[in-house]
Amino acid sequence: MSEAQAVMTGNVTTVLIDEERLQARIRELGHEITSDYAERDLVLLCLLKGGIYFTSDLSRSIDLPITLEFVRARSYAGTESTGEVKLSWIDGLDISNRDVLIVEDIVDTGLTLVEIWKALEAQNPATLDICTLLYKEKHLAQPFPLRYIGFTIEDVFVVGYGLDLEEQYRNLPHIAVFHPDDADRDEPTGLLNPP
Ligand code: IMP
Ligand code: MG
Repeated sequence: MSEAQAVMTGNVTTVLIDEERLQARIRELGHEITSDYAERDLVLLCLLKGGIYFTSDLSRSIDLPITLEFVRARSYAGTESTGEVKLSWIDGLDISNRDVLIVEDIVDTGLTLVEIWKALEAQNPATLDICTLLYKEKHLAQPFPLRYIGFTIEDVFVVGYGLDLEEQYRNLPHIAVFHPDDADRDEPTGLLNPP
């Protein structure tokens, strides 16, 4: 659904992080990862579907030989976490003694990561770390080691750049705040730590 279509249905999105700022930050993360993982055996593990654009752009900012892998995780119904995480692995994942970096679109309750972390740890990677584009600080149920964070945001529902609401809005080139309808809307800044 385009933004124009969203407006026509009464739902509105406002830009939170524009494309330029998003891409600049992703390049920074890519450079950081390049220096941190030099001489290592880096496996970028993309969490589908939300991590698709982030992984795609981030991987091209990493100037190292890497392996790309994918896992599908689902926990959301509409704008609420169901509290239950379903994982579907792509067959043949080989991470034993390798340096695994999980690439996630957003950390909200952290439940998805807890489940994935447990499943991956059982396969004895050399190192296991997390790179998330967005982090909703307020929600995190338990402290979790997030090695790379793109942006910390307020507790708002965001869409775009891979993030969806019932499979819509993923292909927006920026991150936007989703407003269920246009009534009583304040303009949220939403962003807690502009880098
Ligand atoms: P968690 O398990 O609660 O940390 O949720 C992680 C997953 O929920 C993310 O990978 C997203 O797919 C989804 N999610 C959490 N917050 C949002 C949001 O604001 N917009 C869209 N999807 C979200
Ligand atoms: Mg989702």
